[in-house]
Amino acid sequence: MFAAQLTVDRDFPIAPLDRRLFGVFVEHLGRCVYTGIYEPGHPTADEQGFRGDVMALTKELGATIVRYPGGNFISGYNWEDGVGPKELRPRRLDLAWYSTETNQVGTNEFFDWCRKVDIEPMYGVNLGTRGPDEARHYLEYCNHPGGTALSDLRRRHGYEQPHGIRFWCLGNEMDGPWQICRKTPDEYGRIALETAKLMKMVDPSVELAACGSSAYDMPTYGIWEDRVLEHCFEVVDYLSLHSYFVKPPTDTSSESFFAQIETNARYIEDTIAVADAVAARRHSSKRLMLSFDEWNVWYRARHGGHMKREGWPEAPRLLEEIYTAEDALLIGGMLTMMMNHADRLKVACMAQLVNVIGPIMTEPGGPAWRQTIFHPFAQAAKWARGTVLRPVIKSAGYANEKHGELPYLCASVVHDEAAGMTAVFILNRHLQEEMNLSITLRGLGTERKLVAAEQMHHGDLEAANTRDAPNEVAPTALGGIVIDGEHLQMRLLPASWNVVVTKAVR
Ligand code: AHR
Repeated sequence: MFAAQLTVDRDFPIAPLDRRLFGVFVEHLGRCVYTGIYEPGHPTADEQGFRGDVMALTKELGATIVRYPGGNFISGYNWEDGVGPKELRPRRLDLAWYSTETNQVGTNEFFDWCRKVDIEPMYGVNLGTRGPDEARHYLEYCNHPGGTALSDLRRRHGYEQPHGIRFWCLGNEMDGPWQICRKTPDEYGRIALETAKLMKMVDPSVELAACGSSAYDMPTYGIWEDRVLEHCFEVVDYLSLHSYFVKPPTDTSSESFFAQIETNARYIEDTIAVADAVAARRHSSKRLMLSFDEWNVWYRARHGGHMKREGWPEAPRLLEEIYTAEDALLIGGMLTMMMNHADRLKVACMAQLVNVIGPIMTEPGGPAWRQTIFHPFAQAAKWARGTVLRPVIKSAGYANEKHGELPYLCASVVHDEAAGMTAVFILNRHLQEEMNLSITLRGLGTERKLVAAEQMHHGDLEAANTRDAPNEVAPTALGGIVIDGEHLQMRLLPASWNVVVTKAVR
């Protein structure tokens, strides 16, 4: 066993936590939409064909915002194909995923789904095959009250009230060679600028995210951000980050896998540095916020997604990653790291929601179940409310080639002043030893009671949840917590993710 300490002080906040940090992503890709969220004829389907079991799990997941409809898909998408009578909608070749898109779900149905599960929609515009003109028309269709051709078209489609979609992505991963109509940074920066200008003319209340690099390890990372922002800094509100965590065959150790928490922290901080350098050149006090609108573990079901396949199938099984206990620990650690960047990171979307690298799995005509990564996300979305406090950590650690000494303890603390409630999220990334953890919650009340305490640990880091064993990896009660005034003492299992929520009574 090793000892570790975590201290926070009410007077040392990082920032209020934006609840949009608990977003997800639904792309027209594989079985995310078709037989994922939508399956008419499924025993639980509602009158619109949305699966009731998936809606129930989505609500339990607690996601706050959902990015739609892509991803790579957006760069070849015509929004007009997905509105109006379903029987008239065209079937199209989806060049992003070599599939056939039936367009049976589109803008309006997805908006209805968002309302049903109580999630804010985040839509994207196609800056691949299309551009500013399509974007302004799409926004007019969605958000303009009425009295124009496109807003009246929406009303004729059965949606009298404007959708009021606030958050919009200006394209997707426009630097990626795989992207439909990839752009150079100058080409994209110009189009993002002109699109943003027109969109804000149509609806000044929209919030716009420009594409950052599609990954931290893109050879053009940094230069891309700098050039793009040189064009559109004034008119956009967010810059996007995308990151998928991998386990390369050359280094399969869990310690290196968990060190991706620090790699992604650096990614966030470097991106802030580039955005602020653009601000500095302009003598601007504007601070761009970040939208980490694709993040997850994704390395097993990696092959074949972009590769041509025969037959242009409908809703093929693509990117169906089966998550392990180890993945859930990394997701927990990532969530603590993201909360600890709450001053600049305002939006994040776990990619994706169902079947495609998702926390929820389904079988067509069959059940839906929670993958391992569902749990840390749901716990964080449920309990992380209020202000993130700056954690001071003292812990033994391990050596990492990239980052030097890394503490075994990763943690974040979120305090809800109005409710007097404080949630502590803790990853013990020591693989063999228990952690004897002392927590001091300074200035948050001198007497506390326990509200919730859960741990996630599995003796086999490769264990997964399956259709037949859907609860193999799940949280259990965490006992033995001693509370003494502002101090909490607990023993945490090796390789465990833990959530402890207390409330001040005095
Ligand atoms: O989430 C899967 C894909 O990963 C998205 O379509 C794309 O944006 C990223 O490369």
